[in-house]
Amino acid sequence: MDMINSSAVSSSIALVFIAAVITKVAWGRITADPASRNTPPHPPAVSGSSIIPLLHTLVTKGFRTMLQEQYTKFGSVFTISFLGMKTTFLVGPEVSAHFYQGPESEISQGSFLEFTVPMFGKDVGYGVDIATRTEQNRFYLDVLKPAKLRCHVAPMLQEVEPGPGLGSPNPSPGCTDLASHRPTCFLPFIWIAIGAEKNLRKMTEGGNGREILCEMGTARASARLSSIFAEIVRSRKSSNRVEEDVLQNLMGSKYKDGRPTTEAEVTGLIMAILFAGQHTSTATSTWTGARLLSHTECLEAALEEQQQIVKKHGDNIDYDTLLEMSFLHCCIKEALRMHPPGPIFLSKVHKNFTVRTREGYEYEIPKGHTIASPLVINHNIPYIYKDLDVYDPHRFGPGREEDRLGGKFTYNTFSGGRHACPGEAYAYMQVKVIWSHLLRNFELKLVSPFPETDWLKVTPELRGKVEVSYKRRMLPRSMLEN
Ligand code: HEM
Repeated sequence: MDMINSSAVSSSIALVFIAAVITKVAWGRITADPASRNTPPHPPAVSGSSIIPLLHTLVTKGFRTMLQEQYTKFGSVFTISFLGMKTTFLVGPEVSAHFYQGPESEISQGSFLEFTVPMFGKDVGYGVDIATRTEQNRFYLDVLKPAKLRCHVAPMLQEVEPGPGLGSPNPSPGCTDLASHRPTCFLPFIWIAIGAEKNLRKMTEGGNGREILCEMGTARASARLSSIFAEIVRSRKSSNRVEEDVLQNLMGSKYKDGRPTTEAEVTGLIMAILFAGQHTSTATSTWTGARLLSHTECLEAALEEQQQIVKKHGDNIDYDTLLEMSFLHCCIKEALRMHPPGPIFLSKVHKNFTVRTREGYEYEIPKGHTIASPLVINHNIPYIYKDLDVYDPHRFGPGREEDRLGGKFTYNTFSGGRHACPGEAYAYMQVKVIWSHLLRNFELKLVSPFPETDWLKVTPELRGKVEVSYKRRMLPRSMLEN
């Protein structure tokens, strides 16, 4: 599965448009009576010149509206045929199991993630065979598992510096744009986790180390970061220095045959973690803030929760107190439902398989198709999510638990099955550290209009500002006095 590459899609739009004009119309819906045929039909397809209205919607309103329209028209399984590339969309939990759980021999991310090889090196991920990659995924799961996260909370707290204005020990009241500070204000957390923060600060003295990370994904930044990590690994090895961080744990990881990870592997794995965790976490922190600060009732409930926790544990924040922040957890989860950082996942079909829809139709998805799990639609299914346009963290709370209504593939922000994000617990932990600290220590108000989402980009971005006014308050003392 891959989060769709926006430039590739926009360039294909033009090509598809030309192709659409010269290609025969092939448009229709095939409904199946499973009993009457041995092999179920292929899903209803949009192709040929029927693509034109769809492209028009794509270009004018964005891909979410475009997919939503197809879903309304065809139901949970449909194919869009672009220049011979057939992409079948599987919408909703009833038809998603094979997407997330199908064996690698039948469903794979195939070539979609090969672009990562120059970034992380040929010793990890899509540069190695499936058996090695599976073992490396085990390393991720191990180094990011909740039991190993406790030690990251204290250094994170020392770093909670959400932007220039808010960063000083006793800032005077002011205003800051969380969206424009996004790259620099929320990054330190991920740096700490991986163990690079101190080293990177030292090594980029005179320059701004964080800026390298902001450019993550560019060849120059990848090369620079790779060489910095390699140097850190070498220096730790030569000095026998042992730190308590993810990098160290990766250095200590071993394959089943007892072989330890090499320097190139540790470097590649840590780069992959950074790449996977940096944009996703910063975007989530910003959206959570924007949503919370524009819903008075939710903001009050989140403050009330902090107040209760402060009463119980004092102003200390540690791993256990973070676990008690269940409402804040739901606030983040709801922000992620509405603004998933990866809006669509893709995979390639290597062997035909059959899906059965909620309505009882069966379709065969043939080998060669690309299959897509569009979170932007999955998370907006009316028979699952009540008042789906409303920011309502309570939907995940006790008694409702809408994310479980359709089974385990109802809520897919962190993907699922074999490809589930190993950093989920870490992601929640860091966003909770950021927002519990901010809620406790500042009176915050969103002073700009609620930001829009740029749906014309295939990786939808926040458009506009998240201008927040802040005033330091002497919390948690003042919370207790209330
Ligand atoms: C809200 C924040 C996050 C979201 C929504 C998210 C989501 C995802 C998703 C959907 C995938 C699967 C992608 C695919 O299969 O194509 C993934 C993979 C991954 N994530 Fe996260 N992630 C987040 C934060 C993090 C953090 C903080 C870390 C590490 C500290 C992390 C580490 C990873 C790694 C290492 C992989 C790749 C696993 C592999 O190669 O199979 N993620 N993430």
